[in-house]
Amino acid sequence: MLDGLDQKKISEEINTKWLGKEVFYYPVVNSTNVLLKEMAFRGVSSGTLVITDYQQKGKGRYGRKWSAPPRTSLLFSLLFHPNWPSERANWLTMIAALAVSLAIEEYCLLSSQLKWPNDIGITGAKGWRKVGGILQEGHIENGSVRQVIIGIGINVNIGREDLPMVSNSASSLLIEKKRPVLRAPLLGSIMEKLELLYEQAHEGRSPQPLWNERLITVGQHVLIESLGTKASLSGLVEGTEPDGRLLLRDSNGLLHKINAGDVTIVG
Ligand code: BTN
Repeated sequence: MLDGLDQKKISEEINTKWLGKEVFYYPVVNSTNVLLKEMAFRGVSSGTLVITDYQQKGKGRYGRKWSAPPRTSLLFSLLFHPNWPSERANWLTMIAALAVSLAIEEYCLLSSQLKWPNDIGITGAKGWRKVGGILQEGHIENGSVRQVIIGIGINVNIGREDLPMVSNSASSLLIEKKRPVLRAPLLGSIMEKLELLYEQAHEGRSPQPLWNERLITVGQHVLIESLGTKASLSGLVEGTEPDGRLLLRDSNGLLHKINAGDVTIVG
């Protein structure tokens, strides 16, 4: 089943106050993040949603590709102007991942956990499998988070043979649920949760306690790569900081606070 999206169907499912009230649906785009960045330059408002059924040049983190067959996924981007202090720059990725995880649990009745810093997954019989990710792009000016684009990609109705990620740790909601999932209501649920979490964060409440509870990464031995340089680091994850940094204890007993990187759980 490939449930087509359209502007009306999407708007009908979004029962929020301000988030996603401006919706731009396109059947095909290069990348919703890139398109929304251009639209932001032309002055569209905070909360604007750009969503598509197919991306020709979908982007993942660290310059990777994010690809999915047409009409099988949720592929969308949201614009925010938080003006939060720069220490809170990671909060948007955290609340977006949390909102997706909560919505998957509520709408799909699947148990969903997160992998630091931005991966959303399902824990099933075969362990944790990635079903979605967040790509945050934005800029900080004078110590303040001025504009952020949050790109969200979720493998909804992708069959095993079409999985975009060359990894056995990838999955989709269809595979985990063993039946297709309607995309528009799932999107609606994500938007409601994200709006609420954003408002709490805007009042200064860190999303970290709720987010941390869902992290499969805590308590694991991990290898972290792509830390801005080509360096890598391994150790035991002891937890996270309120700003989202990972607390990693290396084999010499040193505690590292890590802002970004690619995590592999090694046991
Ligand atoms: C990741 O590497 O895990 C993040 C993937 C983010 C993909 C989404 S799909 C919608 C938005 N547009 C893009 O080009 N990328 C993000």
